[in-house]
Amino acid sequence: MFDTPKRALITGASSGIGAALALRIARRGTEVWLCARRKEKLDEEVRRIEQAGGKAHAVELDVADADATHARLRRLDGEVGGIDLAIANAGIGGEYVMGDFAKMPWASTKNIFATNLLGAIATLDAFVPGMVERGHGQLVGISSLAADINLPRGAACRSPSSTPVS
Ligand SMILES: NC(=O)c1ccc[n+]([C@@H]2O[C@H](COP(=O)([O-])OP(=O)(O)OC[C@H]3O[C@@H](n4cnc5c(N)ncnc54)[C@H](OP(=O)(O)O)[C@@H]3O)[C@@H](O)[C@H]2O)c1
Repeated sequence: MFDTPKRALITGASSGIGAALALRIARRGTEVWLCARRKEKLDEEVRRIEQAGGKAHAVELDVADADATHARLRRLDGEVGGIDLAIANAGIGGEYVMGDFAKMPWASTKNIFATNLLGAIATLDAFVPGMVERGHGQLVGISSLAADINLPRGAACRSPSSTPVS
């Protein structure tokens, strides 16, 4: 199996699944970098991890800007001595993506794909050369039920391989 990573980076770590994962991973002795847009929420999560005895850092970034995200994370990988575990968890869902697709503004549809698709790819791609060079590393993408099934009223999170459900 895999060794415990020395350094992990998690996007979407200012709340929810990402914040919980960051705490869980840090408790096992891994230094963690928490990324999201809301810096004050990231700082809170960093403090929570430090109070639990872990090491954590906040990185303010917007994954919907894929180029900036890719450049920032590629640079960070070199600065910190190599990320062993990268988790692309940042995403938007719920009411933002569910609804009457005919009424969804193009700006919203575009933002869903920029965040959930390109943002995730930019995040993981940034670490590939370093991991290959070092000969180890893990890339994780947090997915959605939409990867397996079409969600009614969720046209912007549909997957080409999905099976329709009623
Ligand atoms: N909970 C579920 O039942 C469920 C089901 C299917 C899939 N998922 C997926 O699991 C992941 C986590 O979901 P969650 O339930 O924990 O939701 P959540 O509490 O809303 O967390 C989403 C996280 O993503 C961050 N985020 C959103 N847009 C971002 C952007 N443009 N740049 C950087 N960070 C961004 C948010 O931080 P900021 O707002 O601070 O940027 C937040 O930390 C998401 O990808 C979601 O689609 C969840």
